[in-house]
Amino acid sequence: MKWLFYLIVLVYMLYRAVYAKETNRVTVDKIDYYRKSPFWKAGSRHSINCKGSSKSQKIEWTDPAGKAIKQIPSNRVYALEHTVPSPAGRIPASLLHFKSVTLDDTGLYTCRSGDSSDHAEVCVIDPVVFKNIRTEVTADLGRSITLNCHAKGNPEPRIQWKRNDNLINEGEDDTKYKLNTKFSSDGFESSLTIFSLTSEDSGLYSCVAIQENTEQCKHSNYVNTTLNVNHAPIFEDGNDTELVYGRFNQSINLVCSARGYPAPTYRWFSNINDSTLIEFDKKQIEFNQEANTAILTVTVNQTETFKCSAKNEYGEAEKDFKLVETTTNPAGGFEIQYLHVSGFKEEPSENDWKNGELVTKEFPISDDDPDFKGSITKLSELEKNMNYWVRIRVSNSAGVSTWSTPIQIGALTENEDLQEEPQDEEISTERSKSIAVGNSDVTFYGIFFAGGILVVAAVCMFVMRMV
Ligand SMILES: *[C@@H]1O[C@H](CO)[C@@H](O)[C@H](O)[C@H]1NC(C)=O
Ligand SMILES: *[C@@H]1O[C@H](CO)[C@@H](O)[C@H](O)[C@H]1NC(C)=O
Ligand SMILES: *[C@@H]1O[C@H](CO)[C@@H](O)[C@H](O)[C@H]1NC(C)=O
Ligand SMILES: *[C@@H]1O[C@H](CO)[C@@H](O)[C@H](O)[C@H]1NC(C)=O
Ligand SMILES: *[C@@H]1O[C@H](CO)[C@@H](O)[C@H](O)[C@H]1NC(C)=O
Repeated sequence: MKWLFYLIVLVYMLYRAVYAKETNRVTVDKIDYYRKSPFWKAGSRHSINCKGSSKSQKIEWTDPAGKAIKQIPSNRVYALEHTVPSPAGRIPASLLHFKSVTLDDTGLYTCRSGDSSDHAEVCVIDPVVFKNIRTEVTADLGRSITLNCHAKGNPEPRIQWKRNDNLINEGEDDTKYKLNTKFSSDGFESSLTIFSLTSEDSGLYSCVAIQENTEQCKHSNYVNTTLNVNHAPIFEDGNDTELVYGRFNQSINLVCSARGYPAPTYRWFSNINDSTLIEFDKKQIEFNQEANTAILTVTVNQTETFKCSAKNEYGEAEKDFKLVETTTNPAGGFEIQYLHVSGFKEEPSENDWKNGELVTKEFPISDDDPDFKGSITKLSELEKNMNYWVRIRVSNSAGVSTWSTPIQIGALTENEDLQEEPQDEEISTERSKSIAVGNSDVTFYGIFFAGGILVVAAVCMFVMRMV
């Protein structure tokens, strides 16, 4: 029975230990910051509740300066004692009440009961209001323009300008940008002047207002202004004829998209010869206002030229699209070049390759097979027990790819077949393959090693039996 007595004593001591710690606990409710903003708006009314854990507890609030908050309801900031229900009956709590918060109320408030305390971080800001913001501004090429941003709030905001989300630093480019700030009774005004406008100056400008009350209590907000610079359409990637490759009877989308303001209107033509253009009906063209594109879908028949025209009131740009019908065998062929390794520890130079052997092959015409990824070729003239450098390139009617990175292979003795493993390695957009040679020595050593382990295992088992 002795052990039962010890157990009861132990349980009681544990209970005391836990209970004693619990007695004077205080907990502050999470602050009800509204939705996204981590602050209270100046002038608004708020309260924070702090509850205790045992009946005869005294709870007190102190402000950021450490001064006790008095329980005088006529004060702007006061504490109010009350009780809240709990499983063990009603327990004391204290409500910290702000009738109308001011910026100076910002800081850490402490709820205390004996040695136990909890905190509430209060942040008060009078958030900026932007005035007279133009969401869209249009200006002519070569001119200057000033964007204004009028922001009023407390604390006084600090203004930054961003272009397409990149900060415009003051004094970084004096010939392009000038920043100006002005204070008035009506708030804070910042202006950004952009000189000698080019089409590249078009974009989204943001005026960012940053308000810092304390290190922990800050807020920023911004407004957007879109700047449009009037200019003739420009093809971003140049006016050069774009080559488009396709197989016979393949359907291909020709995408025409030019930058310009106002947004360009598009026309598509079939370019019969230098003097004859035949315009496509608008119904045959897919216009996308949002993406600023005009797509013409054509079926590849023969090599043909199409022209896209992009025009607005400031000018016109034209671009040719040449549709090239690739041969029935679009992958064309490939060339394999190889060299004896002797003398080339490192990769052979282009000059060394001149003495290499060259094997040229057409890809088999198996274009109906969508899984067709390459071809297997046997290099039959390799000498026994020789190492080679091998590289490969592919070609089609559009041209020849660059050479692949050379690899080393070893030709083995007569009975060991030369193996080739085609891989789905891509060179440019064309097809290629690399060559690998199986090395039977590795297999042999592998078997030897595995055999060794078996012997060791058998010996071990035997020894164990003996013991
Ligand atoms: C400003 O423009 C950006 C980019 O278009 C957009 O994501 C953001 O919502 C805009 N902000 C405002 C306040 O209009
Ligand atoms: C071209 O494609 C269409 C449908 O995709 C098919 O009906 C037609 O027979 C093809 N013509 C030729 C010449 O291959
Ligand atoms: C251009 O094509 C049209 C129509 O096919 C033809 O009448 C005209 O003679 C051609 N002009 C030249 C310069 O080839
Ligand atoms: C290809 O072009 C020729 C000549 O322009 C035309 O007669 C033929 O019908 C076209 N074929 C297809 C499949 O569009
Ligand atoms: C593109 O074409 C337009 C008119 O068609 C011309 O003014 C412009 O200089 C051309 N740009 C280039 C880069 O060739």
